Amino acid sequence: MKPLRIVLFVFLLVFVGLQLVPRGRNHTNPPVTGSPEWSSPRVEELARRACFDCHSNETKWPWYSNIAPISWRVVEHVEHGRSELNFSEFDKPQRHADEAAREVRKGSMPLNDYLLLHPEARLSEEETQELIAGLEATFGTREPREPSDDGGGR
Ligand code: HEC
Repeated sequence: MKPLRIVLFVFLLVFVGLQLVPRGRNHTNPPVTGSPEWSSPRVEELARRACFDCHSNETKWPWYSNIAPISWRVVEHVEHGRSELNFSEFDKPQRHADEAAREVRKGSMPLNDYLLLHPEARLSEEETQELIAGLEATFGTREPREPSDDGGGR
């Protein structure tokens, strides 16, 4: 065999092998047990568009979320996102809900690499402002300026 073919063959083997790692196959959508009382239907609509894939149990799993190694990152985002804030489990305390407006204002949420692949989740400047105001109205707000207030969130 030519060296190039050997290299390609090894890549193929590794790629196929990666698919056998169970990590990327944990695509769960547990039941919705409690929803927030959204201050308006519009906020809910925007949050569903921009946040629900990672912060709810109603995740839309894209086709590439089945393909390692991308699947590992997608699953990590969803598991970590849900553990920080889950809009589908408002029967449980959600201690980061009042940081939601701030995360959007800072531009840290939604995550950038998610937006790259999810143009529908990109919000216009106006929609972003609407979402921030709505999140504040729904969950209140916690700005990190008072040091005692940060709660060691991270
Ligand atoms: C692609 C998945 C994804 C999307 C979409 C997403 N988040 Fe997150 N979010 C995460 C992850 C992962 C974390 C935890 C790690 C971190 O803070 O970066 C997180 C953390 C948070 C936190 C906890 C604060 C913190 O950083 O400790 C808040 C609040 C939050 N997100 C709000 C939102 C809001 C509001 C939206 C929609 C505008 C959103 N997120 C969209 C994945 C996502």
